[in-house]
Amino acid sequence: MKVSVKVPATTANIGPGFDCLGMALPMYNTITIEETVLPGTGVDINVISDGILLDEFALEHIPLDENSLVYKAVELLYNSIGQSPSELKITIKSGIPVARGLGSSASVIVGALVAANELLGRPADDLALLSIACELEGHPDNITPAFVGGLVISSQEEDGSVVYRKLQWPENWAITVCIPDFELSTNIARSVLPKEVPLSDAVFNAQRLGMFIQAVHEKDKELMKLALKDKLHQPYRIKLIQGLDEIMESFKHDDDVLGCVISGAGSSILVISEKDNIEKIHSKVKEIWSGLNIKCDIKTLNVEPNGAQIVEE
Ligand code: HSE
Repeated sequence: MKVSVKVPATTANIGPGFDCLGMALPMYNTITIEETVLPGTGVDINVISDGILLDEFALEHIPLDENSLVYKAVELLYNSIGQSPSELKITIKSGIPVARGLGSSASVIVGALVAANELLGRPADDLALLSIACELEGHPDNITPAFVGGLVISSQEEDGSVVYRKLQWPENWAITVCIPDFELSTNIARSVLPKEVPLSDAVFNAQRLGMFIQAVHEKDKELMKLALKDKLHQPYRIKLIQGLDEIMESFKHDDDVLGCVISGAGSSILVISEKDNIEKIHSKVKEIWSGLNIKCDIKTLNVEPNGAQIVEE
């Protein structure tokens, strides 16, 4: 038996929502798990990008062995019903850039769990899968939209359960994802964060996150401009993303732009704007990065309303 699951990319944090706000985007990884008949072959993991099978060297952050996130996700699920995975071929068809703050690790965790659950005859319900996935990733902000789609606010409670609510993104607000050619590992981007923050910074983010939710609800552009700010992670990460301060500065007084934030832990940058003048946004970012010899891919995308889905491959 063989099951394939298509999972969207995600952008997390979106300004004030560190570790709790995330949105699915229309770029996808497809994770296929196939039971193989040959005994003793173990678990074989392959990654295909642009139709090419990648080797271990090209994929240093997705180790192709049993320590990989995919293997861990599958193993956790098998273990939860008293079994161990064996004789499986796992293929990741990769369409989400890795280590760019676009949820590629969340997508493989979610895809592997949903596929394994289907192979095993669905022993776990969606909330149980969500909770296992968040446990593996460490926070719910990418995992939840990868699983359920849309713009989502979520928390993981002390008992491990995940609570989430979907929010409606205003149709006339554009999301421009600026993906540089350099990677930034989430581990490094988290290692620069302090363990504790000043109370005034926590209050600043609580205020902005409340405003964010009301701004999307009322489609209030001026409120969103106030809301798309952060003091919990961006000030510490700005030095890790070349050109970010200049890009942010260049949009500060642009009336069409609602905000410019780091996508997840970086290295991508998100520019949120009205739908006019998108070309101007693309060329500004391109110009600043090319001045620093950084190549980039810039896409203006809609929110992906669907989360992980079983597909025919
Ligand atoms: N909220 C996470 C972070 C997203 O900013 O570190 C990346 O996994």
